[in-house]
Amino acid sequence: MILVTGGAGFIGANFVLDWLARSDEAVINLDKLTYAGNLETLASLNGNAGHVFIQGDIGDSALVDRLLAENKPRAVVNFAAESHVDRSIHGPEDFVQTNVLGTFRLLESVRGYWGALPASEKQQFRFLHVSTDEVYGSLSATDPAFTEDNKYEPNSPYSASKAASDHLVRAWHHTYGLPVVTTNCSNNYGPFHFPEKLIPLMIVNALAGKPLPVYGDGMQVRDWLYVKDHCSAIRRVLEAGRLGETYNVGGWNEKPNIEIVNTVCALLDELQPRADGKKYSEQITYVTDRPGHDRRYAIDARKLERELGWKPAETFDTGIRKTVEWYLAHGDWVRNVQSGAYREWVEKQYDAAQAKVPA
Ligand code: NAD
Ligand code: DAU
Repeated sequence: MILVTGGAGFIGANFVLDWLARSDEAVINLDKLTYAGNLETLASLNGNAGHVFIQGDIGDSALVDRLLAENKPRAVVNFAAESHVDRSIHGPEDFVQTNVLGTFRLLESVRGYWGALPASEKQQFRFLHVSTDEVYGSLSATDPAFTEDNKYEPNSPYSASKAASDHLVRAWHHTYGLPVVTTNCSNNYGPFHFPEKLIPLMIVNALAGKPLPVYGDGMQVRDWLYVKDHCSAIRRVLEAGRLGETYNVGGWNEKPNIEIVNTVCALLDELQPRADGKKYSEQITYVTDRPGHDRRYAIDARKLERELGWKPAETFDTGIRKTVEWYLAHGDWVRNVQSGAYREWVEKQYDAAQAKVPA
C-alpha cells in the first residue's frame, strides 16, 4: 500500500492510474479537491478496491496521522501542491499554506509514523517529494541545463514555496533520518492537464474560437515532458533512488512558447480544421507579460539515466499529437473542470483587455 497526496490533480491522477494499471499494490489517495483536483479524472477507478480516495488536506495532521496508522503504507508520494505560477502571483497565501506549511505538517505526520515502525519496515519506507525545476530560477540562452547541483534561485511565489518545501524535506532527512528522495521535474503535458496551463489552455481556447494569449514576446523556453514519462521516472526513483538525493526529470525538449502554440495550432488545423477555413494561428494574441517571468528552463536528466537507467519514452512530436487527440476526444472532461470555482477565479483576475477570457 502506498499513500499518494494530490492524486486527483494532473500528474498525481496520471500516476495513480498508471500505478494501478501495472500493480496490485493499493493506493490511498489523499486530495483536498481544490479547483485543480477532479474526481472525474479518476472515474475509471470506480469499483476498483485498490483505490481508496480520501478528501482532505495534507496539513490536517489528525487526518493524516489516522490514515497512516490505519493503512500502514510503505511509501508516501507527495504531489499535493498549489501548482500554477499565475495564481501564485495573484494570491500567494494558498501557496505558502499548502506547499510550505502543508508539506511541513505532512513531514511531521510521516516522521511520527515512520519512527514507530518495526526496524525492517522502517528501513524500507520512502517519502518521495515531487518538486519542480523552477526552484533553480531562470537560465540565459547560453547557460547549461539545470543539474542537481544548481543553486536554488526561485523567482515566483510558487517556486519560492516549492523551494521551501524541498528544503524542509532535505532537513527532515538530515536531521531526523527520514528516508526521502526528491524529484525536480520540467514542464509536464498530456491528458487531464487543467486548462489554465499553456498547452491545454491553447487547445481549449482554439477550439472555442477564443484568443490564444501568448505572454510577452513568446520566446520564453520551457523543457517539455510527457506526463506518463514523469510517472515512470517517479516509479523508478521510488524503487531505487538513493536516500536524501534529488533527481532532475526532463524530456530534452526545450522549446519557445510560441513554437508550442504554433505546433498546437497546426495539429488542430489537421485534426479538426476551423469551419471558416482559416488557420487556428490567427487566434494568437500577444498579451502583457507575466511579472518576473523566467526566461528559460532546461533540465539535465543525466543523473537519473546514469544511476537509475530512466529515459523518456515519448518524443515531443509523439506526445503533443497524443495530447491534442486526447483533448479532442474529451470535451466533456474539459467542460466539467472549467465550471464553478475555476471560472469564478479567472473572471475575477483577468479582463477582456488581456484577451485571456472572452468579454
Ligand atoms: P495540479 O494543480 O494539477 O494538482 C494538484 C493537486 O493537489 C490537486 O488535485 C489539488 O486538489 C491537490 N491539493 C492542493 N492542495 C492540497 C492540500 N492542501 N492537501 C491535499 N491536496 C491538495 O498540479 P500538478 O500539475 O499535477 O502538479 C503536481 C505536483 O508536481 C506539484 O507538487 C507540482 O509542484 C509538481 N510539478 C508539476 C509540474 C507540471 O508541469 N505540472 C512540473 C514539475 C513539478
Ligand atoms: O517547470 C515546471 C513548472 O511548469 C511546474 O512546476 C508548474 O507547476 C507548472 O505550472 C509549469 O509552470 P509554467 O509557469 O512554466 O507553466 P505554464 O503552463 O503556466 O506556462 C508555460 C509557459 O507559457 C510560461 O513561459 C508562461 C507561458 N504562458 C502561459 C499561459 C498560461 C503563456 O504565454 N500564455 C498563457 O496563457
